[in-house]
Amino acid sequence: MATEQDKIKELVRERYGARAERVISLTPVELEPDGSCCGVEDPEHAMRLYNEGQLSGLPVASIAASAGCGNPTALAGLKPGERVLDLGSGGGIDCFLASQQVGNTGHVTGLDMTPAMLELARANKAKLGIENVEFVQGEMEKMPLPDTSVDVIISNCVVCLSPDKDAVFTESYRVLSPGGRIHLSDVMALTADGPSVNTPEEWVSCTAGAEYVDVYRDRLVRAGFVDIEFTSESVDYKKDDDERPPTNTAGYKVVAHKPA
Ligand SMILES: C[S@@+](CC[C@H](N)C(=O)[O-])C[C@H]1O[C@@H](n2cnc3c(N)ncnc32)[C@H](O)[C@@H]1O
Repeated sequence: MATEQDKIKELVRERYGARAERVISLTPVELEPDGSCCGVEDPEHAMRLYNEGQLSGLPVASIAASAGCGNPTALAGLKPGERVLDLGSGGGIDCFLASQQVGNTGHVTGLDMTPAMLELARANKAKLGIENVEFVQGEMEKMPLPDTSVDVIISNCVVCLSPDKDAVFTESYRVLSPGGRIHLSDVMALTADGPSVNTPEEWVSCTAGAEYVDVYRDRLVRAGFVDIEFTSESVDYKKDDDERPPTNTAGYKVVAHKPA
């Protein structure tokens, strides 16, 4: 019988599968990054997160599919040769930015559980003609990756979607090499009461699963992480006609380390 956790994951998979399929169905004209793009929910979403220099040269379909809440590679200090894992890589945007930073001697793995997102990400990779990125199907609560196989984990607005965050952090610790680090952009609750919304729709929109910073920190500590830092990374998504109620959540950047 399907558990509550299975149901949440299925909803998440459906939501992001539909988003990927919508982007895949857009014609090149509809994908033009000049504001005319009409097939995704908010054509300006990526422009709020990334600067022009970062976006230039990326496949427009990866920009159209962007569904993050921060810019995890901006401050991750990625170095040539590092092995990077992106949890919930979506259309691949952060993997492509990471790939430029780690270069040909480095490697980037994008992990995602949604088949249509992987199809889109792989098509975007083919457009770029790069070799140092691969996209792998799997769940971040049970990663199909060997122990100590990556140096840096990044993620953009994905851990908040997980109904089992302890498993995500235990698995992150397992696959990181000693001395490795995580740089996550995520949505968190502003107070210990948690988010003020709790519908399935709000789960898949990254709010109902948002946790208070202290709860999140405790999970990271239990998994073994040290030197944990949280900083605000709020992006204002509200549009003029947005009538959604306040959700008591905001964007944060989280950095944590596995001891050497
Ligand atoms: C909000 S989107 C963010 C995508 C991407 N990081 C970005 O910034 O555009 C969430 C992505 O995480 C994936 N995802 C959600 N839960 C997951 C899980 N438990 N394991 C693996 N992927 C997951 C979804 O399929 C979707 O592609």
